[in-house]
Amino acid sequence: MNIRIFDDMQQASAAGAEIIAQAIAAKPDTVLGLATGSTPVAMYKELIRMNKAGEVDFAKVRSYNLDEYIGLDGTHDQSYRYFMDDNLFNHINIDKANTHVPCGTGADHAADAKHYDEMIEAAGGIDVQVLGIGNNGHIGFNEPDAVFHKGTHVVDLTDSTIDANKRFFASRDEVPKQAITLGMGGIMRAKKVLLLAFGKGKAEAVRAMVNGEIDPKVPASILQLHADVTMLLDADAASLL
Ligand code: F6R
Repeated sequence: MNIRIFDDMQQASAAGAEIIAQAIAAKPDTVLGLATGSTPVAMYKELIRMNKAGEVDFAKVRSYNLDEYIGLDGTHDQSYRYFMDDNLFNHINIDKANTHVPCGTGADHAADAKHYDEMIEAAGGIDVQVLGIGNNGHIGFNEPDAVFHKGTHVVDLTDSTIDANKRFFASRDEVPKQAITLGMGGIMRAKKVLLLAFGKGKAEAVRAMVNGEIDPKVPASILQLHADVTMLLDADAASLL
């Protein structure tokens, strides 16, 4: 694992944007695996700036997001499709037809999940997978469990995740209780993984991911087995390493 520790989130996010821009420069139709949440927002802002400055061209880039809430369609302002449009896609020259977010409103989630994995495979797999990490060690919405789940699947969100995400909703009751998420197989097959973590609240999850046993109770710990992981941390998130 390549662990890079920065003074602050801004510097780490700029480094992340640079890695993505280099990947796109080397392969214009790069397949990005993208995350939502507060962690990647500063990196997406920097990518928007670079795109407007002509430093990175998304014209041929394809993207597959990690996850989506069950029951929220793309017009809901807390859906992850809405988040991606609002925080990145609406501000760069990406072709929206090349952007993908799992469908959380279909009639057959198992069929949608299978189709999502097939689409990623047909695209040649993910070149660069952007990840945040949950306080409980989740990546995507792969929550702590007895096993690692391989494919895209529907998951019951843990109380800790619902609590962490309720800040975005009017009340806790409105937070969806389920999500559809890329599985560990999809994440581990990415050629390169870029994980960002900021703040003291992430320090224990980062410690367990890097120094703990490889254990489905800390889903991110499986990244110890990936050949090309770069972690971009601020000093607080790295404080227990
Ligand atoms: C989001 C995702 C989640 C978040 C994690 C951290 O697409 O897959 O795993 O990365 O919950 O969330 P923030 O960044 O809000 O702390």
